[in-house]
Amino acid sequence: MAVHGLRTYGLGRHQQIDDYQYGGSAGMVLMVEPLSNCIEDLKSKRQYDEIIYLTPDGERLNQSLSNRLSLKNNLLLICGHYKGIDERIREQYITLDISIGDYVLSGGELAAAVLVDTIGRLIPGVLNDETSALFDSFQDDLLAPPVYTRPAVFNNWEVPSILLSGNEAAIQDWQYEQSLKRTRERRPDLLSESEF
Ligand code: ADE
Repeated sequence: MAVHGLRTYGLGRHQQIDDYQYGGSAGMVLMVEPLSNCIEDLKSKRQYDEIIYLTPDGERLNQSLSNRLSLKNNLLLICGHYKGIDERIREQYITLDISIGDYVLSGGELAAAVLVDTIGRLIPGVLNDETSALFDSFQDDLLAPPVYTRPAVFNNWEVPSILLSGNEAAIQDWQYEQSLKRTRERRPDLLSESEF
């Protein structure tokens, strides 16, 4: 991963990158020229599969979008600031707009960090146990089941005996049932009719 400061492509003595918006509303907008120069420079060095703009009006990030993006080679993420970026950049370069939720951050950096984290952990070698991302919450539109570790009893609080049984198939059935139960209770919106 590489971070490229827009200021490097700023204009004039002050390396200007933002300006007042046309129309008179309050708030600064990232200018078209520095952003265009930055994107063109990066594109001349690499082929990007997607040029992504982090914005509250984008497609909502979820696990399936992260899964899809984890299969790509090169992604360019554009972080807006202030009131956003000049619309011409969106029209000319952006291939995907992504929002991380229905709230407004002061800039796209935290959203980009969230996106990079969800994608990065799906890339083999990033997690210690390569298979474990497969069992995460949301991976099959179900929340993850409860997990336990040693000791088997603490303060008389017991780990469910099935998990100590050594019966792989029974454990998997139990975990699936627990996932379903948890999803029904906490996120019924994730379930299709047949899973109720
Ligand atoms: N930039 C500002 N708010 C954002 C959000 N909710 N998602 C993505 N980028 C943003």
